[in-house]
Amino acid sequence: MRINMPVTQQENDSLREDELVCSKTNPKGIITYANAALCRISGFAEKELLGTPHNIMRHPDMPRMAYAWMWDTLNRGLLWQAMVKNRCKNGNHYWVDANVSRQYSRDGCIIGYLSTRRKPTHAQIAEAERLYASLRQAEGELEARGKMSAEVVMGLYQNSPLYQAR
Ligand SMILES: Cc1cc2nc3c(=O)[nH]c(=O)nc-3n(C[C@H](O)[C@H](O)[C@H](O)COP(=O)(O)O)c2cc1C
Repeated sequence: MRINMPVTQQENDSLREDELVCSKTNPKGIITYANAALCRISGFAEKELLGTPHNIMRHPDMPRMAYAWMWDTLNRGLLWQAMVKNRCKNGNHYWVDANVSRQYSRDGCIIGYLSTRRKPTHAQIAEAERLYASLRQAEGELEARGKMSAEVVMGLYQNSPLYQAR
């Protein structure tokens, strides 16, 4: 998981309701197209985005599970629709209501992915903040439990005849 820092927790709310923020990637998630609205809101120049993995704009507040769910949905050939908090180049952020889908060639091969994003409502943002905070907490607890159980297992193992016999 890429962790882009720093973050300011300052929202860039300059997206207009009639604006569509678009990008395309190749099948590996490398950006092949970014529209002017994406460059403006993110603060990245087009040339900084093209050829770069899409996690360049990942905000650390996005739960890991959100992107696991995204790729799982896309791999099943379905459209992924979800709220995304993205990091701007300067550490600020913006929220979008994102739709990501596969793109196919005429002969049915997957040639990449397309994301179109709209400005969400304040209510959508508030709900996503709440949901993602609880997902992050759950992820933190699972990770802590994973570490704790590894330590416990190691302790038990080292005290056992299995270890002492080595
Ligand atoms: C078309 C498309 C658009 C994407 N848009 C974003 C985006 O706006 N922000 C983002 O963080 N990840 C986006 N991703 C997902 C990233 O490729 C990546 O899976 C995600 O940032 C998680 O990165 P990580 O593996 O470093 O945790 C997009 C992927 C695709 C295919």
